[in-house]
Amino acid sequence: MANQRDLTIDLRSDTVTKPTPAMRKAMAEAEVGDDVAGDDPTVNRLEAAAAERLGKEAGLFVPSGTMGNLIAALVHCRPGDAMIMGQFAHNRIYEAGGVAALGGIIIDPVPDLADGQPDPAGFEAAIHSDNMHHPVTRVLWVENTNNRAGGAVVTPQTMTSTREIADHHGLILHVDGARIFNSAVAQGVEAAELVRDADTAMFCFSKGLCAPVGSMLVGPKDLIEQGRRKRKMLGGGMRQVGVIAAPALLALETMVERLAEDHAKAAELAEGIAGTPGLELAMPAVQTNMVYFRSTDPAWSPPTLATALTEAGVWCFDVGDAVRMVCHHDVPAEHIPPAVETVRRVMDP
Ligand SMILES: Cc1ncc(COP(=O)(O)O)c(C=O)c1O
Repeated sequence: MANQRDLTIDLRSDTVTKPTPAMRKAMAEAEVGDDVAGDDPTVNRLEAAAAERLGKEAGLFVPSGTMGNLIAALVHCRPGDAMIMGQFAHNRIYEAGGVAALGGIIIDPVPDLADGQPDPAGFEAAIHSDNMHHPVTRVLWVENTNNRAGGAVVTPQTMTSTREIADHHGLILHVDGARIFNSAVAQGVEAAELVRDADTAMFCFSKGLCAPVGSMLVGPKDLIEQGRRKRKMLGGGMRQVGVIAAPALLALETMVERLAEDHAKAAELAEGIAGTPGLELAMPAVQTNMVYFRSTDPAWSPPTLATALTEAGVWCFDVGDAVRMVCHHDVPAEHIPPAVETVRRVMDP
């Protein structure tokens, strides 16, 4: 077994994954064209494959999840409109206020349920009534997996309940599915089932699926065409972008099922952390590739703990009220026991 003192184990995020050798080869060999003119054959194949996989009519390849979400919001809302989402939703906390800055859109935050699922009743209660004093609620926004809720999955049943509320109030349902395939694999369902009830969905190639760049917005053809114009407006019209669409295609074709390995590593890591005196898991169930935890000793604040662990060689992030570790392709299973060893040594030097 590797000596944990010599190892750097990067558990900051699944975004740190590097393209695989097969992806680099696909990049070198990709057929390309000018995608703004619509003639990059690799992008066109990717958009069609992604739409089909998610059960939607059309897809739009974008540089990042942030841009995919922003385009969805800009297509669905006008300035002054409101979107309802979880209080710790990525779009609300980690996307630099883009929907407010660029779309004039208000976010109405709602607490998640204890298991990390969105609360359909809470969503319904946050819908503004039809009164000229209020902003117009347009969108219900669901994040699956729910990052800040410990990578919790959102079930098809919750999606259906949320859809019923959306229909009852004439609203749009968008899924931030940056890690939709983690959710699908963890639940043993197709990703299409998880977004069937949504109007639009975004997912990322550049996280656990290991592609270097890119995300996809899927939905009905007319909305995706409107999104294409917004992408151009935001400066996201790319040219010979088949070189990054090619690894994204491989990600879709070959990297989805193996996400189960990342979930198994996270479960093992969580067990080790839960068994470390002085630490507790922030979410009782680790469902996908993320482990959130904290110290029971107030002297070990999350930033202090994250810094100490990182200095000891296990890289992680503090997210305010917890420390986050994320398992991914580039951390092999045999690095989990040394990671736990290091955590124990930091807590009990
Ligand atoms: C849930 C969620 N949505 C959206 C994004 C944004 O993706 P990107 O970093 O590609 O902009 C992230 C990034 O980590 C995320 O975790």
